[in-house]
Amino acid sequence: MDTKESYAVVTGASQGLGKAFAENLARKNINVILVSLPGQNLKELCGELEQTYHIKCHYYETDLSVHENVMNLTEWLNGSFDIHILINNAGLGGTKKFTEATPDYINTILQVNVAATSLITHQLLPNLLKQPKAYILNVSSMAAFSPIGFKTVYPASKTFIHSFSRGLHEELKGTSVFVSVVNPGAMKTNTEVCKRIEKQGFWGKLTLLNPDKVASYSIRQLLKKDSVIMVNPISWLVMKILPIWIKLPLMTQAIKREIEA
Ligand SMILES: NC(=O)c1ccc[n+]([C@@H]2O[C@H](COP(=O)([O-])OP(=O)(O)OC[C@H]3O[C@@H](n4cnc5c(N)ncnc54)[C@H](OP(=O)(O)O)[C@@H]3O)[C@@H](O)[C@H]2O)c1
Repeated sequence: MDTKESYAVVTGASQGLGKAFAENLARKNINVILVSLPGQNLKELCGELEQTYHIKCHYYETDLSVHENVMNLTEWLNGSFDIHILINNAGLGGTKKFTEATPDYINTILQVNVAATSLITHQLLPNLLKQPKAYILNVSSMAAFSPIGFKTVYPASKTFIHSFSRGLHEELKGTSVFVSVVNPGAMKTNTEVCKRIEKQGFWGKLTLLNPDKVASYSIRQLLKKDSVIMVNPISWLVMKILPIWIKLPLMTQAIKREIEA
C-alpha cells in the first residue's frame, strides 16, 4: 500500500489506547493525524512521532461531544488530506448510580461514543472510498456483550458501536473500504482505570490487557481484514457461554464493588 501521501486518523490519540494506536501506525511507516481534547500535549506527541519514525503527523484539538466540532473536524480532514485509515477510538464511560449521574455525564458519553463515531465515519466515508484500499476500525469493548448495572449507558453505547460496525461492514462489502470492530477487555490505560479495575477483584485483574499489545494486534488484524477483533478470547468465550440471567447480575456485582470500595 502506498501510504506516503495518505493518512490514518486516530481519535482520542493523546493517551491510553489511542496513543498506542498512533505509535503503532507510525512504526508501520503510516502518516497519522491525531485528534484529542485540547490541552493534552498533542503537539509534543506529534513531534515525537515525526522524529522517531520519520512519518508525517498533524494534530487537531477539539471536544468531540459537541456536534459542530465534529463537523468542523471532518471538513478540515476532507479538505486537507487523503485518508485511508480511520480509527474511532475516543470513548468514555464510568461507574455511577444512574440516579446520581448528571445530564452532562450521560450526554457526553452518548455524544462521544455514539454520535461522534457515527458522524466522523459518515463524513469521512467519501474520502475513504476514493482510496484504493481503506480501513475503518471502531473501538467497542467486552462491555458490548452484556448490560451492566452502575455502568448502564457505557455498555449500551459499546453495543451500539459493535452493531453499527457490523452493519456497515456488510453494507460496504465489495467496496474499497473494510470495516472492523475491536472489543477489548479492561486495559491498563490510565491510573483511574487501573484503580477501578483493582476494585473489581479477581475478574478485573484476570482480564487486564496492555494497551500497546491491544493496539498492535488490532492493527495487524485490521490489515488482515478481520471484521470482529477479539483481543481477549477467554473473556469473550465466558461472555458468550454465560446466559444473561447469570452474567448480568455477576457483572453488576463486580462493578458495584467499585462504588462500595
Ligand atoms: N481502558 C479500558 O479498560 C477499556 C476497555 C475497553 C474498551 N475501551 C475503549 O478504548 C477506547 C480508549 O480508552 P482509553 O481507556 O485508552 O481512554 P481513556 O484513558 O479512558 O480516555 C478517554 C478517551 O476518550 C477520549 N475522549 C474523552 N472525552 C472526549 C471528548 N469530549 N472529546 C474527544 N475525545 C474525548 C480521550 O481522548 P484524549 O484524552 O486524547 O482527548 C481518550 O481517548 C475508548 O473507546 C474506551 O471505551 C477501554
